[in-house]
Amino acid sequence: MSRTRIPQDTLFEITALSADGFGLANFQANEQAKVREVLIKGSLPGEKVTARIHKRRRGQFWAEAQAFEELSPERVTPACAHFPRCGGCALQHMDYAQQLRHKQQLLLDELIRAGVDYQQLRAPISGPRLHYRSKARLGVRKLGDDLLLGFRESFGSRVLRMEQCLTLTADLARLVEPLRNTLLGLSIAHAIPQIELASGEGPPQVVVRHLEPLSIGDLQQLKSLELTTGATVLLQPGGPTTLHSLDGWQAGLLSYGLPEFGLDLCFGALDFTQVNLALNQQLVACVVAQLAPLAGARVLDMFCGIGNFSLPLAQRGAQVLGIEGSESSVARAQANAQRNGLARNSQFVAMDLYSKEASALFEPKAAGAQNLGWLMDANPTKQPKAMLLDPPRSGAGPALSSWLASRALAQLSDVAYVSCNPVSFADDAKVLQGAGFTLEQVGIFDMFPQTAHVETFGMFRRG
Ligand SMILES: C[S@@+](CC[C@H](N)C(=O)[O-])C[C@H]1O[C@@H](n2cnc3c(N)ncnc32)[C@H](O)[C@@H]1O
Repeated sequence: MSRTRIPQDTLFEITALSADGFGLANFQANEQAKVREVLIKGSLPGEKVTARIHKRRRGQFWAEAQAFEELSPERVTPACAHFPRCGGCALQHMDYAQQLRHKQQLLLDELIRAGVDYQQLRAPISGPRLHYRSKARLGVRKLGDDLLLGFRESFGSRVLRMEQCLTLTADLARLVEPLRNTLLGLSIAHAIPQIELASGEGPPQVVVRHLEPLSIGDLQQLKSLELTTGATVLLQPGGPTTLHSLDGWQAGLLSYGLPEFGLDLCFGALDFTQVNLALNQQLVACVVAQLAPLAGARVLDMFCGIGNFSLPLAQRGAQVLGIEGSESSVARAQANAQRNGLARNSQFVAMDLYSKEASALFEPKAAGAQNLGWLMDANPTKQPKAMLLDPPRSGAGPALSSWLASRALAQLSDVAYVSCNPVSFADDAKVLQGAGFTLEQVGIFDMFPQTAHVETFGMFRRG
């Protein structure tokens, strides 16, 4: 790309909003230069804004707003003083109803792009707009006599000087300041790259990732943080398995309830769990209702985590087989089944569902097929009719089409799909459509208000 001289402050007209929640405008440095796209955080379609370009990468420019010449009627005053500098939120300046419309439209645009038809659009489901976030990873940066603790900045990758966070649950939000002060006093503060916060039933947990050993004095300071805040501090000197308490014991667990199902699920601070526990209850209830009737039904839960969906399905009478890549999550799902009295109708298997072997997962001769128990039953009346997919951002993976074509899943008629990425959801929906499924209903759950992230639910049926 030519290194065209870029004027300092330029007036831009915002024409659209990107999937990441940045205002989009066109920019031409001079008459000879190509027209480029500029992304301006904190701006909205219809606005005129003077902004300063500060980064360019792969033909795109990023700019920081300096002054607004014309404002959108959809603009609201951001609740948090750190907006738009903090990378944690992207849409705090947008009226909430419009946030929902924007996220829904992103999903619909992706379905159009992928050529997927749907029958019914569900109304967006939302819950608390602030203080919903029960998990967070914060960056740490020691700067001379100071220490930064916060999300990454929007305009670069530096750690933000975060005084507060309005999306964290109240018990995590009140930890930020005392935690920062304690970290600042540690002899190895320079060797702490990040902190994880997790909240649930029980004292909130703070995971301190440290690259050098802590001194006795450091341990005492962290102990006094525990005493003054009521939080539990866990240390992580290496990979996830090195997690332990300040006294060197195995790390304790948190839990969250799914009261509609009378369930209580334990999890570790580093396990995957849905971050918005209020919306999670609604999402689980929706999936269970869509897959009903469940008594005696055989259900596959792909990417099952710690059993968030598997156990409510089992509680309603289904025989559930959960498959998941993380061995520790599988062990947690098994323990959760035991403690909720559901071990007899739930089974959990660890497997990398993106691996080559995953394509042959449901073939009788596949490695590990013996672990799949009832799934390998040749009797068609015993084959599963329902499957849940809840993959990571990259989607269900290359094996999806082989699963849908496998003889062991010939009776599969209902697929519930929960996704945190509309792009991979639409791509997988196309694969499901190609295998004879119809997207009967689709809609968004706003798990992450004020951010550009969105959760999608789609119900596919065949035959
Ligand atoms: C969006 S989470 C859903 C978890 C669970 N359904 C829940 O609601 O808590 C995606 C899950 O996929 C798992 N995962 C990631 N990569 C995987 C892979 N290659 N194979 C199997 N599971 C994987 C993660 O460990 C995580 O538990």
